Amino acid sequence: MSRSATVLIARPLPAACEARLDALFSTRRPPGDGPHPLPELLARAEGCDGLLVTLTEKLDRAALAALPAGVRVIATMSVGFDHIDVEAARTRGIAVTNTPGVLTEATADLTLLLMLGAARRAKEAAALIAEDRWGPWSPTGLLGLDLGGRRLGILGLGRIGAAVARRARAFGMEIHYHGRRRAPPEIEADARYHPRLEDLLAVSDVLSLNAASTDATRGIINARTLALLPKGAILVNSARGDLVDDDALIEALQGGRLFAAGLDVFRGEPRIDARYRELPNVYALPHIGSATLETRTAMGMCAIDNLDAVLNRDGIALNPVT
Ligand code: DGY
Repeated sequence: MSRSATVLIARPLPAACEARLDALFSTRRPPGDGPHPLPELLARAEGCDGLLVTLTEKLDRAALAALPAGVRVIATMSVGFDHIDVEAARTRGIAVTNTPGVLTEATADLTLLLMLGAARRAKEAAALIAEDRWGPWSPTGLLGLDLGGRRLGILGLGRIGAAVARRARAFGMEIHYHGRRRAPPEIEADARYHPRLEDLLAVSDVLSLNAASTDATRGIINARTLALLPKGAILVNSARGDLVDDDALIEALQGGRLFAAGLDVFRGEPRIDARYRELPNVYALPHIGSATLETRTAMGMCAIDNLDAVLNRDGIALNPVT
């Protein structure tokens, strides 16, 4: 009988995924929740055919070069794959797969939470309860902004951006977007395409970042681009922290150019710029866009489907990234 393929599982997954992994593969798990130091993980990968990783495993060129020769596939349980040097993997003949589609709705839900949290001053309001400072109801207390009637600019009308647009329409927002390409009519619907980023920014009362982190998008929100937003705009980011220049955003929030920001992702997370904690107009969450049991299970299953396809079936990844 041929040996079953061996898979290293970098982080514990929801229970149903763990059970399926054990049924399909010979499995290896580092102890505890992790994340684990890369050298330790790489040592454990000796003799493995596949790796199941998450966005906490930064597989750069050096890490890829250090992977044992037998590794044929790296399945990341994430839609983003900016933590993996895909080109270096390709050079080594290692397939890289991600989990598109299954986290779209959860991440779009969370993006609306960010918008509402920022627009309705949820951080300041929640602090009144948490710190036992709630005074009498006031006609002018904690006045936020309506989302309805405002223009939503979406940077990146991909799966998640389009799902954000669907929700925002129900809130009565007018949808605008920018991306490298115009979206097909069934996705675009009544949204207005702006071929130039600058033109999108000029009409974005609320700007939602829904683009992947690439060489073209890193730092795309900076002092110059923030200055193009209408005064009093709101920025939300459920994509990747490195799309934003923190100094420029913090300055815009401190100086009142922006009304507020809703942020689920941060450059260098989980260590974030301490000034975000101090700002009353930053509604911040710890990268929980896809954090529902259903969605994380679906993400794990999608990663497993890819490992199964490459290691146990015809060798062809279902969701290869390029
Ligand atoms: C992803 O999948 O890339 C998210 O950031 C985590 O769910």
